[in-house]
Amino acid sequence: MPQPLIVPSVLPANFARIGEEVELLCAAGVDRIQWDVMDGVFVPNLTFGPDVIAAARRHSTVEFEAHLMVVNPDELLGRYVDAGCELIIVHAETTPHLHRTLRRIRELGARSAVALNPHTPVQTVEGVLEELDMVLAMTVNPGFGGQAYIPAVERKVRALRELIDASGLPIEIEVDGGITDATIAGAARAGTDVFISGSWMYTYPGGKRAAVNLLRENATHARTEKP
Ligand code: DX5
Repeated sequence: MPQPLIVPSVLPANFARIGEEVELLCAAGVDRIQWDVMDGVFVPNLTFGPDVIAAARRHSTVEFEAHLMVVNPDELLGRYVDAGCELIIVHAETTPHLHRTLRRIRELGARSAVALNPHTPVQTVEGVLEELDMVLAMTVNPGFGGQAYIPAVERKVRALRELIDASGLPIEIEVDGGITDATIAGAARAGTDVFISGSWMYTYPGGKRAAVNLLRENATHARTEKP
C-alpha cells in the first residue's frame, strides 16, 4: 500500500505572497498542492483564475491539482491544464456528461478526477471508473475552509474502496475538508489515499513541516488498525 499523500489547500495562504507560500509548502514536504477554484455560483465563494496558478507554477517542485468548484468546468479545463495543473478535479454535480468530461481532461494531458459532495452517492462513479485517476469524497460542503469534518462520509469512502479494489484499477481516493491530526485517522481507516488539509495545517503551532509529518504518521498508523 503506497504512503498516504498529504496535500495542502492554499485557500488559507497569504495571496499577496503566493509564490513564496508555494515554496514554503514544498519545503515542508507536501506531496502535491491543491488549488480550490471557486466561481461564486456553484459555491458561495470566489478564488483563483488560471493566471494566478500559472504565476505560482515556477515556484513549485510538486504537482498542482485544480479542484474546480464551478458551474461550467467543461469550458475551463484547458485553461487550468495550460496553467500547469497535472490533475483536474471536476464535480459530479456540475458535469451532466461526466464520462465525456473525464475523457477530455486526459486528452488534454492531465489526470482526471471527480469530486462527490457529501450527499452524492458512490453509484455516480460506477460507470466511469476506467476514465478516472482519482475520486474526491468531500468531507465538508464545499465553499470555505475551516469547516467541521463530516464523519458520515467515511461510509462512502469504504464503499469507494471496495468498488475500486474490485475493479483492479489504480484510482486514488482523496478526502477534503476538516482534516486534522485527529480526523485523519477515520478517513485513513476507511481507505483514503490522499488527504487535503488547509486551515489545520496553516495554524499548527509546530509549523507546516511538523504538521505534514504528523498527518502522515497518523494516517499511516491508522491504516494498521482494524476498521
Ligand atoms: C472547501 C475547500 C476546503 C479546503 C480545505 O470547498 O475545498 O475543504 O480545501 O479546508 P480545511 O482543511 O480548512 O477544512
